[in-house]
Amino acid sequence: MTDEPLSSRKSLSETGRSEEGQLRQVGRAFLLDLYTSLRSLKLYPVENDQVQRALTDLQRTSQTLIEMEDPLEVRITGEFIFVNETRLRLNLDSYASFGHVLNTLNQCGVGVLTVGAGVDRREWQVLISLLLDASNTPLSADKLSELSQKMVLGGVTHIAVDPPSAQEHDVEDEEQKKEIAKHTYERGVAVTKEVVNSVRMGRSANVKKVKRAVQGIVDQVLSNEVSLVGLTTIRDYDEYTFTHSVNVCIFAVAIGKRLGLTRLQLYDLGLAALFHDVGKSRVPLEVLTKPGALDEDEWRIMQSHPWLGVLTLFGMRGYGEIPYRGMIVAHEHHMKVDLTGYPKAIRPRNLSVYSKIVAVADAFDAATSRRSYQTVPLQPDEVLREMWENPRRGYDLVLVKALINLVGIYPVGTCVILDSYDVAIVHAANPDISQINRPVVRLVLSADGQRLDSGPLVNLTEVGSDGNFTRSIIKVSNPERWGITPGDCFV
Ligand SMILES: [Fe+2]
Ligand SMILES: [Fe+2]
Repeated sequence: MTDEPLSSRKSLSETGRSEEGQLRQVGRAFLLDLYTSLRSLKLYPVENDQVQRALTDLQRTSQTLIEMEDPLEVRITGEFIFVNETRLRLNLDSYASFGHVLNTLNQCGVGVLTVGAGVDRREWQVLISLLLDASNTPLSADKLSELSQKMVLGGVTHIAVDPPSAQEHDVEDEEQKKEIAKHTYERGVAVTKEVVNSVRMGRSANVKKVKRAVQGIVDQVLSNEVSLVGLTTIRDYDEYTFTHSVNVCIFAVAIGKRLGLTRLQLYDLGLAALFHDVGKSRVPLEVLTKPGALDEDEWRIMQSHPWLGVLTLFGMRGYGEIPYRGMIVAHEHHMKVDLTGYPKAIRPRNLSVYSKIVAVADAFDAATSRRSYQTVPLQPDEVLREMWENPRRGYDLVLVKALINLVGIYPVGTCVILDSYDVAIVHAANPDISQINRPVVRLVLSADGQRLDSGPLVNLTEVGSDGNFTRSIIKVSNPERWGITPGDCFV
């Protein structure tokens, strides 16, 4: 696979582990210092020796972490504390201290604490006092902004506090949900772009940023799947390379969620999915973007993207660890379950479940996207039928079924004609699987041909006073025929 001797590969991964280990260790020490500072400042006046010592320790460990990575980010996701992207486990020793920090931050409405280089001891002291004050009063909507203001007044310029990511507090407002999903999606596209461009230019990519973006996507899929899956319908041709990776990541994570994978497994799967085509960044652009059919040589180059992906991932070590699951997915995602795809398997092998999930997500997104101005994307329902019925496509049928459950028989973004003669775009699959042929749709053209700007959402399970369904789907239609861009209904 590479010319690198085996021994040097081993040492690479060992370096990775030790860096990761070091971060974990300093991260724990930092949380412990934060805890000690909170406790001692609660019990004693600020001049007290113990308080002063605690603040000195806190300043020192934060400094060490910032030297490792600037800025330092402490993030609370559910029951986890992340220091940068390393998750710190609660164990018996740390249960009381970490739990206390978690509670205090929760009480103050803080989900993310960002600390930049240049932070000093005095700023920590102000922050700790403010956190102690704030944690004594009931949580309210503007508590965090009050805390922020007091920090600014107190001269704290190197520490910022932010609310928990959207999934942690229930956002009821539909518009707000859309905004958050859009932000998550755009961040995903931006980091993918950065990675692809870095690889093209032979620079090392910032995997840490990518990991955080993927965590954002996973968190969103777990809390607000509909808005995020809706955005996959944008399928912007000019940005295809990047949006495709983000879409595959979203679909893969949503399938993984249906299979019952844990949040941490979903982080891994999402990262692998985002990187599945990273090898394409090493394929010459004239081959990658050639509008017509590829000749034999070009096709061979294109088919090398799985192992080019493995090579690229070897060069990417965010905090040292080698993303080996991502490598397997990059290598296997075109192999097909019967191994008739590429690269050719030398021996019999079972594809990893992550590869099989990514293959399904990849196929669906690729076939429903427009990849050049000459090609017309297939309608989503046709794609699903082909994946389900044609065994030569080589997908795992259980996973195709999970995809159908996710997107519905009429996937999100499908243009449909109703028996009321309205034209509508599918907004979300029906959460009730027994009603999979009755999604929630947004009306876009009324029966008399009137364009409805932000038309109403209609649940096709709605029943009229006569006991019959108010509206049903007659057939799927091509949105272009009606001058409709499905993606517009989701932004
Ligand atoms: Fe691929
Ligand atoms: Fe792909």
